Amino acid sequence: MQLPFIDLKTQYETYKTQINQEMLKVLESTQFIMGEEVNTLEQNLKNYTNAKYAITCSSGTDALLLALMALDVKAGDEVITSPFTFIATAEVISLLGAKAVFVDINEDDFLLDTSKVEELITPKTKAIIPVSLYGQCADMNTINAIAEKHGIAVIEDGAQSFGAEQKGKKSCSLSSIGCTSFFPSKPLGCYGDGGAVFCDDDSLAHKLKMLLNHGQQERYKHDIIGINGRLDTIQAAVLNVKLKHFEDEVKKREELGKRYNDLLSDIVQTPKTSPNNTHVYAQYTIRVQNRDEFAKKLNSQGIPTAVHYPIPLHLQPAFKDLGYKKGDFAVSEKLASEVLSLPMSPFLTFNQQDMVVEAIKKALK
Ligand SMILES: Cc1ncc(COP(=O)(O)O)c(C=O)c1O
Repeated sequence: MQLPFIDLKTQYETYKTQINQEMLKVLESTQFIMGEEVNTLEQNLKNYTNAKYAITCSSGTDALLLALMALDVKAGDEVITSPFTFIATAEVISLLGAKAVFVDINEDDFLLDTSKVEELITPKTKAIIPVSLYGQCADMNTINAIAEKHGIAVIEDGAQSFGAEQKGKKSCSLSSIGCTSFFPSKPLGCYGDGGAVFCDDDSLAHKLKMLLNHGQQERYKHDIIGINGRLDTIQAAVLNVKLKHFEDEVKKREELGKRYNDLLSDIVQTPKTSPNNTHVYAQYTIRVQNRDEFAKKLNSQGIPTAVHYPIPLHLQPAFKDLGYKKGDFAVSEKLASEVLSLPMSPFLTFNQQDMVVEAIKKALK
């Protein structure tokens, strides 16, 4: 029998009564779009992050798209980001006709190498998108300072880091705009697609709300071109329940992450939490040589693994027009061949974690 990679089933069983009740309420109200649960969730998310505005939307991808649209990013503009991320981060830049400009990452924490950002800024640069990969934030103070000097925006891709903190402030509230995903397997996940955009700026928030609802303020009066980017009420109802348990889950994630570190750091390369950060371990990702063979050995012992991500974006066919080649981002390329994510969720038991550790020891023999 395989261990679950992310144990959504036990989570559902644990909160089932509340979740079913809240979902039923939505069914009975028939307010499937923009029901009151959506407003409640936005208030809850605002309180949780301390951002002035929390605006829910249809996915993490749409959160990033909406953020770029709100900043008027368009053809000819440039946006600096990491090539070592899920495709959505850069996909939305290309969708708007703008150009993704990649910058390599640090080898020790997988986050944007801030020493290489400023040299890439041109008059066309509109924004920097640091990715809070695996569950901790890049050095946002440094990135914000560079952006401020050049008058550009910083959009945190916090799809994997909701709940993490930097210097005591929550991920998604650390820069001009923060975006997150509520994809089921994310630290705060719903039961379908969902996301949110966070900001402190009144006019940006106003525009974001219009953009996600076909550019309208009043029904059938469209001031700007937008998208259908709303969060379903049923998803908001699920998230309102899960948010009540979220702080406990974040603590459990940290505990399990530290326990993995203690049990594994002598035998494989374990992830480092950077100073000033807390880590929510959306992924607990180690580095190993002969990764694919190693993963097979774990799999044969009932331990599922995943690779986030096997091909850096600059080498993806979808981005070939950007003109990058192998060797352009050495750290990302090296890590893409070594990273391996292990089973992780707040419902992973110590016993299951010990099974993972034993399987790793056996695979290394
Ligand atoms: C770093 C990152 N950015 C963006 C996204 C996109 O989020 P969604 O799947 O909700 O569209 C994800 C989700 O996998 C992600 O991991």
